[in-house]
Amino acid sequence: MTSANTVLAGKVALVTGASSGIGEATAEALAAAGAKVAVAARRVDRLEALAERIGKAGGVALRVEADVTKGGDISAMVDKVVSEWGRLDILVNNAGVMLLSPAAEAEFDDWRRMVELNLLGLMGTTKAALPHLKAAKGHIVNIASVAGRVANRSASGYAATKFGVVGFSESLRREVYADKVRVTVIEPGLVRTELGDHITNAGAKAGLDQRLATMEALTAEDIANAVLYAVSQPPRVNVNEILIRPTDQER
Ligand SMILES: NC(=O)c1ccc[n+]([C@@H]2O[C@H](COP(=O)([O-])OP(=O)(O)OC[C@H]3O[C@@H](n4cnc5c(N)ncnc54)[C@H](OP(=O)(O)O)[C@@H]3O)[C@@H](O)[C@H]2O)c1
Repeated sequence: MTSANTVLAGKVALVTGASSGIGEATAEALAAAGAKVAVAARRVDRLEALAERIGKAGGVALRVEADVTKGGDISAMVDKVVSEWGRLDILVNNAGVMLLSPAAEAEFDDWRRMVELNLLGLMGTTKAALPHLKAAKGHIVNIASVAGRVANRSASGYAATKFGVVGFSESLRREVYADKVRVTVIEPGLVRTELGDHITNAGAKAGLDQRLATMEALTAEDIANAVLYAVSQPPRVNVNEILIRPTDQER
């Protein structure tokens, strides 16, 4: 690495949802700190560009095409990382969608997509990676949301998945702390990314756009910094939860 920051030298990280937004920024931050980083998502062109950028900056990246709602893709993703680099130290479960809608107007398929990705995908990836993380005394970082702590209107389906992530993470922490595996939940408020682009409910989309237009939202790099902080602590320090809102955000 050309960077002076080598706090993660020798570590291997896997970041899901690395083709845009928070995952992309997190992969770059971990690589800049010396970790080898596997970048996973479905859009391979975006992963290719990211891996190239990381390489040009002096880092090491591995592109992994994976749909984390599919059990076979999850196993293949974890196997690929471990067969390439022989270990896994840091898993960042970041892939997610936010299909906001009032409950009465919700598309059942939108709810299904959120549960299958935000919750089941994260749980399945964790289970597949756990033997390797135990072997490495590793670290799991789950990207939840303020919506996993505060349930706002038009967010019932999304909040259900993110409250689920928070519950899963705390139970998991109690199961794995004795193996020296650390668990961190990051709970961002509004971050300017592509996340809102997929909302199918016109009113909910307009509401989000209006909130974004009237506040200085967080950047993906702000969240990447929080992930880097958590995984850079000495082994005795288990940063369990970081809730980060934009200064302008009330709820
Ligand atoms: N932006 C915010 O305000 C905010 C706030 C709180 C929490 N979060 C959370 O932060 C995480 C990242 O979101 P973001 O804001 O960075 O949004 P984003 O830019 O839309 O990124 C979402 C990522 O998830 C990936 N993804 C979607 N479906 C997938 C699938 N089936 N399999 C694998 N990867 C999949 C996407 O890649 P492909 O489409 O290429 O697969 C993309 O890389 C999410 O969990 C989100 O809930 C975001």
